[in-house]
Amino acid sequence: MSDTIYPDTPRVDARDKVRGATRYATDDARADMLHATLAIATIGRGRVDHMDTRAARATPGVRLVLTHDDADLAGLKTAGFVMGGGYAFQNFQPMLSPEIAYRGQPIALIVAETLEAATEAAALVEATYTPAPIQVSLDAPAADIVAQADSPLPKPMFADVTAGDADTAFADAPLTIDAAYTGPPQHQNPMELLATVAEWGDDGTLLIHEGTQNAEGVRQGLARQLGLTPDKVRVISPYVGGSFGQKNSLQMQTALTAVAARRLKRPVKLVVPRAQGFHDASFRPASRHHIRLGAERDGRMVAAIHEADSQTSRHDLFPTQYAALTARLYGIGNFRGRERLVQTDVQTPGYMRAPFEHIAAFAFEGAVDELAYELDMDPVALRIANDTTTDPISTRPLSSRHLAECLRRGAERFGWSRRRMAPGSMRADDGSLVGWGVASGAYPGSTAPAVARLRVTDDGGVFIDVGVHEMGQGVRTALAAAVAARLRVPAQSVVAEIGDTRGTPQHLTAGAWGTATAVPAAVEAAEAMLDALQKLDPKGADGAARRSPAQILRAAGRPSLDVEIRRKAQGQPDAIFGQLTQGLVAAAGPEYPEFVTFSYIAHFVEVRIEPGTRRVRVPRVVSVADCGRVVSPRTARSQVAGGVVWGIGASLREVSEVDARFGGFLNDDLADYVIPVNADIGSIEVDFIDEPDPLLNSVGVKTLGEVAMVGVAPAIANAIYHATGRRLRDLPIRIEQVL
Ligand code: MOS
Repeated sequence: MSDTIYPDTPRVDARDKVRGATRYATDDARADMLHATLAIATIGRGRVDHMDTRAARATPGVRLVLTHDDADLAGLKTAGFVMGGGYAFQNFQPMLSPEIAYRGQPIALIVAETLEAATEAAALVEATYTPAPIQVSLDAPAADIVAQADSPLPKPMFADVTAGDADTAFADAPLTIDAAYTGPPQHQNPMELLATVAEWGDDGTLLIHEGTQNAEGVRQGLARQLGLTPDKVRVISPYVGGSFGQKNSLQMQTALTAVAARRLKRPVKLVVPRAQGFHDASFRPASRHHIRLGAERDGRMVAAIHEADSQTSRHDLFPTQYAALTARLYGIGNFRGRERLVQTDVQTPGYMRAPFEHIAAFAFEGAVDELAYELDMDPVALRIANDTTTDPISTRPLSSRHLAECLRRGAERFGWSRRRMAPGSMRADDGSLVGWGVASGAYPGSTAPAVARLRVTDDGGVFIDVGVHEMGQGVRTALAAAVAARLRVPAQSVVAEIGDTRGTPQHLTAGAWGTATAVPAAVEAAEAMLDALQKLDPKGADGAARRSPAQILRAAGRPSLDVEIRRKAQGQPDAIFGQLTQGLVAAAGPEYPEFVTFSYIAHFVEVRIEPGTRRVRVPRVVSVADCGRVVSPRTARSQVAGGVVWGIGASLREVSEVDARFGGFLNDDLADYVIPVNADIGSIEVDFIDEPDPLLNSVGVKTLGEVAMVGVAPAIANAIYHATGRRLRDLPIRIEQVL
């Protein structure tokens, strides 16, 4: 049904959100609920020698203080690393031993009648340590470097990406670029903090309320940690108050909260404060990128080499896929990627929105801009000259690619033809330096398997139960719009039942595959429902005298009707549904047996640099995306605008500051971790190609949430070069670099 045009449906949850009526996972107080806090390690690595918890235990209102030597924790297991067949963001579960792996690691859980008492008691926990030497930066002299291709990570997924003979082609190329770029550690900082409410039933069942992108993974991981069968655990994550990858798997506080609730026989709530979230949940790792490009004099790129080093922890190899983007952004026949992991004394880093693509594009699209100046060729024309319809790595066809159209349309809307090529050649009336920059982005088109159940009732209810989580991206609206369009009922009447492990399997929602996973499944369920209604009422279900589902049910004397469909990606075996129900990552793509799918975007950015202070402003951005069919225009537009804001933050503001002496992150609050505010954001124009992808699924939808920010950072850096003639290759770009 890829010819369906989807209407501009208002957010189905907008009214509740602006009224504050939306209930997030841990918003509702259970009767008799206790409050928990964590005490944390103040060394960068080592072991706890002794803990004195007497003062904490003596604090009025305190009911429990748990430490590693407590019998309640004796049976607790690690849930395993999510990229190693497990369920947690890292393999290391704090408080199972005296070991300290990183600064900020929990060393005690305190539970009290009030949050105030628990907070006071946490400050009274005293520990003595034997510290060990630490290395926390990529450049630490003793940093241990692991070549990803030699690691035990699953191949071919994490093998180095190659095509042709890049080194020879680079050596022979008439024009070359050789440049090094870096990206800092950054933290997601969703507004909703990491938080858990754990409640045990009299029958030994465990109910977890937690904002997560992966309710099934949390359920399965907790069952493994606590030695329960998964049917004893239910996880509810109705709305996630932002996540951006940080809540993609089991967190360190969840099992500890559950253990405390079991021991005390009362519900326990733990909200992880912002500063602790910097230290005990995943983050964007520091990385460095060595890019080499070789080109013919006509601008055709003939060789690219991308060598990346990325931070990981001591206990996990967090795998990277930086070159997966750069190998495929253009049709370059000779490519060599090489990824290495640098082990440091931190919690395991992870996926933060456009985790590899954002910073890989910063490096690569910066180098492409350098090449444009080397060639004296317009940067838009250079990119279009390197377009392709074939994936250069697998040589399979791309299912759809409208990057050149994104660039052309964006250039038109931006007024790019008025740009003068020479750096420093454009000024505003107030004397500000003006720079115009462009960059492309891409993001793999992945899909997870899904089971969708659709129920209609004789009183007009429509309920779609499918695996996906609402994290603010608007998937409840997209589901309602898609089901409503097929059943021809009002979108407001469609209720999405998602984020609850009692329903269909709630696979991890990440990698921007949520819409391409859930919406085609929901649409196929709606089509199955139309068939079922047709059987109930052969004359009424379609045609001119078409009756509503509720009318058909009433006429047939049926209170409700249910259908269920299962859908998987091209090439996935049926066994994938077993992985789905075990809460394991079961997504496919971007390579499918017969095609390769990416989404694309082009960003055009204007910067203005105040000549006295060199303050960089971004008054205007035009972004044109090819995400296949747009199924929810209003929330899609918001996704892209939000991605542009993220890109502005990631390139001009955000860095998690590291002090090599102490470990951890210094600026662990929103006063010191600087993000853009409204005053930093100017005009953001968003447009979509809106051409359905013919192969990925029946709706023609690809991926949007992450591609939105890919390419914003290089477009800004390229615009700063255009304004000033200064090529800045390290993020975030600060005033002192522009001087
Ligand atoms: Mo996304 S960074 O894969 O949750």
